[in-house]
Amino acid sequence: MVSWFSKSIVAMTIRMPRWFVGWVSRRYVAGSTIQDAVKIMHRLSKEGACFTVDVLGEEITTLDEAQYFLDEYVAVLSAITENGLDANLSIKPTAFGLLIDEKKGMENIETLVRMANEHDMFVRLDMEDHRVTTPTIQAVVDLHAMGLTNVGTVLQGRLFRTLEDIMQLEQSLGPAADYRICKGIYLEPEEISFSAYQDIVDSTNACIDQMLASGAYCAIASHDIPVIEYAKSALTARGMGPDKADPRSNAGEKRDAKGPGYEFQMLLGVRGPMRRKLAKEGHRTRVYIPYGEKWYEYSIRRLQENPTIGTQVAKAFLMPWTNRP
Ligand code: FDA
Repeated sequence: MVSWFSKSIVAMTIRMPRWFVGWVSRRYVAGSTIQDAVKIMHRLSKEGACFTVDVLGEEITTLDEAQYFLDEYVAVLSAITENGLDANLSIKPTAFGLLIDEKKGMENIETLVRMANEHDMFVRLDMEDHRVTTPTIQAVVDLHAMGLTNVGTVLQGRLFRTLEDIMQLEQSLGPAADYRICKGIYLEPEEISFSAYQDIVDSTNACIDQMLASGAYCAIASHDIPVIEYAKSALTARGMGPDKADPRSNAGEKRDAKGPGYEFQMLLGVRGPMRRKLAKEGHRTRVYIPYGEKWYEYSIRRLQENPTIGTQVAKAFLMPWTNRP
């Protein structure tokens, strides 16, 4: 249940002038240009972090808009290599046209993944709402079938289907499957997803177990202590951890720029102390760096999609010690 407090914060924020929304989101968005993102990555590299870069914006209405994202991601790829940054790409399949024209959208994604592959760079297909769960997973399977194994997707613990998806992917990709597991930002219909906090945590943790058991690479994307602690104990139980080669006999080959079978991921501006602590313990930690001209639309949509963010934003400002960048 979303509290009245959180709903009020969201309702208030989306009515505020653009500069105010910009001020609130400054902490979570790197800026409007790739140069802004590069500056932040240089700074956070000193904290032992690596990165995944997201060009803000998602569902589009024309295929011309998809071209903007393709061009911008090509610029990101160049900026990462030119600056010698330890970073990869996160893309929203709908921004490449997947919901307008599945064939053309897939061609756009393939173009980028192929280019990234030439630079040994990984591309993560972010997971959007339930309308694109199946096409996004299928895109990854099809790209692997083309020999493009530098791609993986995100699965959402809140969806009932996720354990089944992991089993299916284990069959089609084996240990080459490379996941990011998160709770899921989209509030989905109750027929297909959990809505209570503990159910979502339990389901996310069960997914982590199943991903690890399958031999896949597992990026744990959460700021929530019960999920992080669970993941750490699941890793320990398998003999996995910092500075240890991945001991799983069913694991895939160690991939470039990846941790020993797993890594932790967090969003820019959220729970920096916890990320730094994980890095200090030797875990590979990756920060999700969103930037782009569409920061305003992104911030408003995120607030509307999931009003629980209202409490987190308010907490970050009123009690900054709970969430230092
Ligand atoms: P929870 O929401 O319980 O947060 C735990 C604590 O972390 C909060 O109490 C608060 O202190 C802090 N916190 C979390 N989010 C915050 C915020 N935005 N601002 C301030 N404080 C915050 N989802 C999706 O559907 N598809 C995707 O592809 C991705 N990709 C992705 C990548 C990465 C790197 C991360 C970290 C997350 C995602 N997500 C996502 C979002 C994810 O599904 C989820 O909505 C958020 O991470 C919040 O869930 P937590 O597990 O952090 O727990």
